[in-house]
Amino acid sequence: MNDSPDSPELHSNRHLASKVWSRLGPWRWRLSLSLGLLVFSVPFINFHPLVWGIVADDLIEGSLTGQSLGIWLAIMMATYLIGLAANAWHTYLLEKTGQAFVKEIRSDLFRKFETQSLGYHRDRSTGELVTRITSDVDAMEQSVLQGITGLIEEVVTFVVVAGMVLWISPLVGALSILPLAFAFLFIRVYNKRVKAIYDGVRKRLGHIGSFVQDRLAGVQVTQSFGREGAEQADFDGRAESFYDASVKASRLRNTYFPIVSTFGFVNNLVMLGVGGWMILSGNEAFTIGALLAYRGFWWRLQSPIRTIAQTSDILQRARAAAERVFELLNEPVSVVDRLGAQTWVEKKGAIAFEEVDFSYLPSKPILRKVSFRIDPGEFVAIAGGSGSGKSTLLNLVPRFYDTTGGVIRLDEVDVRDYTLESLRAPIGFVGQDNYLFDGTVLDNLRYGKPEASVAMIEEAARAANAHDFIVDLPDGYETRVGQNGVKLSGGQRQRLSLSRAFLTEPQILLLDEPTASVEPESESMIHDSILRRTASGQGTTLLVTHRIDLLRQAPRILFLSEGRLAGDASHDKLLATCLDYADAYHRWEAEER
Ligand SMILES: Nc1ncnc2c1ncn2[C@@H]1O[C@H](COP(=O)(O)OP(=O)(O)OP(=O)(O)O)[C@@H](O)[C@H]1O
Ligand SMILES: [Mg+2]
Repeated sequence: MNDSPDSPELHSNRHLASKVWSRLGPWRWRLSLSLGLLVFSVPFINFHPLVWGIVADDLIEGSLTGQSLGIWLAIMMATYLIGLAANAWHTYLLEKTGQAFVKEIRSDLFRKFETQSLGYHRDRSTGELVTRITSDVDAMEQSVLQGITGLIEEVVTFVVVAGMVLWISPLVGALSILPLAFAFLFIRVYNKRVKAIYDGVRKRLGHIGSFVQDRLAGVQVTQSFGREGAEQADFDGRAESFYDASVKASRLRNTYFPIVSTFGFVNNLVMLGVGGWMILSGNEAFTIGALLAYRGFWWRLQSPIRTIAQTSDILQRARAAAERVFELLNEPVSVVDRLGAQTWVEKKGAIAFEEVDFSYLPSKPILRKVSFRIDPGEFVAIAGGSGSGKSTLLNLVPRFYDTTGGVIRLDEVDVRDYTLESLRAPIGFVGQDNYLFDGTVLDNLRYGKPEASVAMIEEAARAANAHDFIVDLPDGYETRVGQNGVKLSGGQRQRLSLSRAFLTEPQILLLDEPTASVEPESESMIHDSILRRTASGQGTTLLVTHRIDLLRQAPRILFLSEGRLAGDASHDKLLATCLDYADAYHRWEAEER
């Protein structure tokens, strides 16, 4: 999923704003207080030029005394301090709200990621999801809250200061504000043009990110084929294209901003020119004090224009980030609890497939009308050629995917009628390659059963033939395994995964070629531990394998061929009756020799 579908609804700013607003629900009162404080603080903070004007006029008139000067200075200081305090409080409340908002969004996103089906995660890169939950959420907070209130602050400042300027002299005030109107018009045009360019800049940055993520993951492949130079050239091309887009944006920005600033500066000229001319011509309506006050106000009229121009940059970025975040939040979870789903209470471990169909893509059926029944405690092997649907079949049992036709029953109840939590708890799943979390061996083993005692953990590790190698590790059970267990061998990782599954005492154990990528010594240990479990009747076991010794020892084999159940019997019987199985078996036998 690289490009989001272009839905006009998502792209409307108002729609986005209403979404953000509805998410701000619990903090609306705090936000309102914060905005109230902001509006309150602006006139106080911007009061001082007025005092300058009044004091100057009094000086010229000769009416200023030491005492009145002192009073004016005190007023100037007091108004500024009041304004400053209110503004600081406003900012604190705003930032607090922003952080609370971010916390909720992150938590909701993480919940979404954790509950989405495997199909969802296979279609997406991890890096992309990480970016969303970190930088996109950040960008949203910074710009949605701070950008918008920055804008409000500037608009309020502009209105208040414009009011004071007009109040001092309607004529000079109006004439000096006029050029600013042109500046606003320019900003609008600029915004339209820059949007497309910024979209391009962002997209290119995204391309660089996903490229680096992918190539770092495969750095060993690159080095083994000696392709570093080619990868570097590819990367440089992407960086170059980002550079070009950024320079283009910079050129546009630096053509427009001087124009906008010029309009702002013209208003400086108008103030001094018209004001000075009125004083020269002896017009009583304008004084030197007024001129001085205007000088103080000028910057406060000019700065909102710059800020508004810059804020719109920030808002563009925020809009894109918010769109991506909401897109993820709104995505439906495909595998969910049914209404009125029941808890699976009395777990026996019977499995039944009834005419099960499944396809990942509508055009390509993977399983076709698969039916079989497995009694509680049975040990069944699943065999079949590569791509025949074995892994898919196992994945359907804990509802990593839902069937597209037919029903899967556990203890006679449709799996979709159980709550996901109670369905998955008694099912153990060990695949070809199982993820180990960055932590100690012990942390990983007790992942599915945090309350397990050390004795229970050791027992599970013994059952999976893992205990001996664990105690030989530098720190025994306290050894850190590294991300995805990089500090262990493939066989050791597999035996840990098996122990982790054994510890939860699963009623149903699903094993998907657990020895596929394992050296022979580990393999025989794993086989041994699986067979020990199945012999002791500790639950139902489904094992995908093409290892001949396991096939021979399995009491029953389901043989899949192109998504159909082509055979269902013991090894000897299949060998005699199922031609496809006999062919496949001889092939596997030859491979192992
Ligand atoms: N996420 C997916 N999206 C689309 N098609 C998929 C997906 N996963 C698997 N398939 C396809 O489904 C078919 C069955 O795959 P499956 O992994 O179940 O085969 P398998 O019998 O386990 O094979 P192997 O022995 O190689 O592990 C394959 O043709 C595969 O290309
Ligand atoms: Mg498979």
